[in-house]
Amino acid sequence: MKILVTGGAGYIGSHTVRVLRLRGHEPVIFDNLTRGHREAALDAPLIVGDLLSLDDLTGALRTTGSEAVLHFAAFTYVGESVGHPDVYYRNNTAGTMNLLEAMRKHKVSKLVFSSTAAVYGDPIRTPIDESHPQSPVNPYGRSKLMVEWMLRDHQVAFGLGFAALRYFNAAGASLDGRIGEDHDPETHLIPRVLMSITGEIPEVTILGTDWETPDGTCIRDYIHVEDLAQAHVLALEHLGRGGASNAWNLGTGKGHSVKEVIQSAERVSHRKVPTVSGARRAGDPGVLVASSDKIRKDLGWKPEHADLDSIVGSAWRWIEKGGRYKNKATPEEAQTTHPIR
Ligand SMILES: NC(=O)c1ccc[n+]([C@@H]2O[C@H](COP(=O)([O-])OP(=O)(O)OC[C@H]3O[C@@H](n4cnc5c(N)ncnc54)[C@H](O)[C@@H]3O)[C@@H](O)[C@H]2O)c1
Repeated sequence: MKILVTGGAGYIGSHTVRVLRLRGHEPVIFDNLTRGHREAALDAPLIVGDLLSLDDLTGALRTTGSEAVLHFAAFTYVGESVGHPDVYYRNNTAGTMNLLEAMRKHKVSKLVFSSTAAVYGDPIRTPIDESHPQSPVNPYGRSKLMVEWMLRDHQVAFGLGFAALRYFNAAGASLDGRIGEDHDPETHLIPRVLMSITGEIPEVTILGTDWETPDGTCIRDYIHVEDLAQAHVLALEHLGRGGASNAWNLGTGKGHSVKEVIQSAERVSHRKVPTVSGARRAGDPGVLVASSDKIRKDLGWKPEHADLDSIVGSAWRWIEKGGRYKNKATPEEAQTTHPIR
């Protein structure tokens, strides 16, 4: 299939583009490079364009003849979304509205959407399955939940076929070490732990050691970015066969505490992780673990790299050799309609 991949120069999108190409699909990346990296595209075709421009989107769908869209492009920082909800609703929600309009115009009716565990809010039970109430506790989660509602309404009114994939914590890097995670600022635990080993940050702050968990630290469900990429291919091919639209969780179903992540980082790097204990962060739940039974059953997805040391080890190989893309966006590329940078 010819596929437009919005946000394909970002972390998860770039890994998925590689897997799509290995499967014989023809992805074209659509990214404004505000938070992605030209280098992460490797040699995949890249259109520099913005979700907020209907012209950019219609032009991209027309020139590529895309039959489906994988939609990763979004802003992704919970804390930033609290201070700048307008920017998040505009980019994530209104931007997706533009995309849906452009898709209708070009009769593209298949969409795989990057949703998030944040659409559930504070868990009332764990593991979280897809029937768990959706009550997000921040603008980022709400900007994504609104998109899920839009997708359902577009399915009913216009026959859109969609897969909303609710990721838990994406982690790791490509197994060959060519691409990996490079967010700025980096807020995710695994890269931060590894950056503390290389000295890029002085230490890792453990946010709360008094949680009701076996070792007192927060538990999260880490899913290898390569497994996440495979799930997108399965979801796309399911829609391609005329399969039913749905929302699926993506996690391994196994939680790991902050201390376990630190121990894993020490094992794979043979180095010590400098840590300090801090207070709990407001709004953080103690335990967030997915039930991914539904996607295993419906789409036959199975994580191949679920072992924590495999995930942290791949991220370490990427961080150890720099963990950063060298060519940052040009000032023109980084120049954006979004006022927060
Ligand atoms: N990383 C995670 O653990 C995680 C967890 C749950 C959900 N998600 C979702 O997965 C998706 C990808 O996350 P990621 O970690 O790869 O993020 P990322 O920031 O690395 O990638 C997002 C990409 O979208 C691009 N982009 C943003 N706004 C755009 C716009 N208006 N027009 C064109 N391009 C635009 C950015 O330049 C970037 O390349 C996001 O939608 C995110 O909400 C990520």
